[in-house]
Amino acid sequence: MSEANDATDQPTSEKLVELAKRRGYFFQSSGAYGGVGGFYTFGPQGASLKGNVEDAWRDRFAVAEGNMEIDAPTIMPEPVFEASGHLEGFDDMLIECPECGESSRADHVVEDNTEYEDAESLPIPEVEEVIAEYELVCPACGAGLAGQAVETFNLMFDTNIGPGDSQPGYLRPETAQGIFVEFPRLKEYARNQLPFGVTQIGRAYRNEISPRRSIIRTREFTQAELEYFVDPEEDEPPLERVEDVEVRLYPVSEQNDEDGAEIETTIGAAVEEGIIGDAWVAYFLGIAKPWYEAVGVDMDRFRFRQHLSGERAHYAADCWDAESEIDGNWIEMAGFANRTDYDLSKHEEYSEDRFTVFKQYDEPKTVERATVDPDMSFLGPEFGGAAQDVVAELEALAERDRSAFEGDSVEIELEGETHELPVEKTGFSVDEETIAGEHVTPHVIEPSFGVDRVVYTVLHHAYSEDEVDGEERTYLELDPEVAPTFVGVFPLQSDDELEAVANDVVDDLREAGLSITYDDSGNIGRRYRRQDEVGTPFCVTIDYETVEAEETTVTVRERDSTDQKRLSVDDLAETLAAIRNGDREFEAL
Ligand code: GLY
Repeated sequence: MSEANDATDQPTSEKLVELAKRRGYFFQSSGAYGGVGGFYTFGPQGASLKGNVEDAWRDRFAVAEGNMEIDAPTIMPEPVFEASGHLEGFDDMLIECPECGESSRADHVVEDNTEYEDAESLPIPEVEEVIAEYELVCPACGAGLAGQAVETFNLMFDTNIGPGDSQPGYLRPETAQGIFVEFPRLKEYARNQLPFGVTQIGRAYRNEISPRRSIIRTREFTQAELEYFVDPEEDEPPLERVEDVEVRLYPVSEQNDEDGAEIETTIGAAVEEGIIGDAWVAYFLGIAKPWYEAVGVDMDRFRFRQHLSGERAHYAADCWDAESEIDGNWIEMAGFANRTDYDLSKHEEYSEDRFTVFKQYDEPKTVERATVDPDMSFLGPEFGGAAQDVVAELEALAERDRSAFEGDSVEIELEGETHELPVEKTGFSVDEETIAGEHVTPHVIEPSFGVDRVVYTVLHHAYSEDEVDGEERTYLELDPEVAPTFVGVFPLQSDDELEAVANDVVDDLREAGLSITYDDSGNIGRRYRRQDEVGTPFCVTIDYETVEAEETTVTVRERDSTDQKRLSVDDLAETLAAIRNGDREFEAL
């Protein structure tokens, strides 16, 4: 990263947003109609960079880990979200300005203007109190917000499936539910063997109250999620693979301590010392850290932060975020949550399918089972229409507490009333049974990545400024693995002979699988600057020496150093492909 990065006072984010629009990375959508907050289009470079990040994620979290990838619909019917808890609890805090009517997120108003760092975890009455105490004002018009009610606002976009409104649906707020609802089939593909993982990369939607910071908080975004299903009693992560990975951690204990600080440690030590309580979460943090580094996140501006208890989603037992530093603020790029059996149990309860895995024992087991076989000729006259409820109560009691049947009579509770029954009328017995296995509800460990935020961070951390030949230059120091364009090819001047060679070079390089842009407009310096701003690692120039000298050579210029070397056209494609794959280095050529 260039030391001249802070050459002006303008925050890098602002300069990046301008560059992103100018060079086709991202820009607000539907600009011809005035634009709409929270929706962004990735332009040609941005779509390619995003695709490269997704491919790199797929390679690491699906292919290299042996997980399955699926692609589910983005609209799902209402019962899915009744079960998942999103209808009831997927809310943000909304405050409306009494003067201009602008809606704002109450927790953001508090965080932006007080020392509170995590207002989301405060109860609503406390947020209202803080707004009054600090005399906070509307971010749009400056009117006082004290005394305004803070309301909950559900973030899901709703729609109707088919004509009329008989089948409400929602745009999924997380790709995860598309995996959970298909668990009954997915477990078959995994041959009912735990642990197994399912990934999905796709769009998710949240009707944010106040989308902000360009592609960091949008209303439509891309997630890359892995749902890893484990047997909580038996499965252990292969921690030895990641135990030496060095990480910077900011656990709850340090966040709550006035003198608390981030801890530099390794995954292995963090688990051993109980800093990361969940070994599965630790395993995925250990995989994620080198992945972020490989796609170009600056490791000096990266950490894992544990969620405070009030901050955790309704389904999470523990959660750590991967965070990147952007202009002095930490932003969340991913969450690593232990969702326990929350989702599968809920879908089992609300749906008509089974969300368990049958775990076969090595050897069949003989177990004692307490059952009842009530005398209905006694229960019928005694309880009338409630007789079946009595049977259900007796069955549950036998399973729960067989000692209740030890005396002459047994007591049951029915609609708040206690009833006493002769034990002999219950048909209670304890029998031996041989069972081959049991139904287990897997626990879910979820690494959930926000792809747009990774793209934004990679661009922000790559943004650099320096001076070349006395002129200020802006360039993106993108890693070749994700750079959308790998080589720019330029004929030095408008000349048929130079252009013919340049076109051949383009064909050769494309055939080698490299992403190429051809540019013959403007002077050569301007063409270099354009590609520097796009973050293109190399430019190849075809000049008169190319066509006049005995050996056909071209100039290859490296983006960051601006160093130039002459290389033979014959092995140009092979050499650049080797650099792209990390097998050779430009400096060593
Ligand atoms: N699936 C986790 C999230 O969307 O935040």
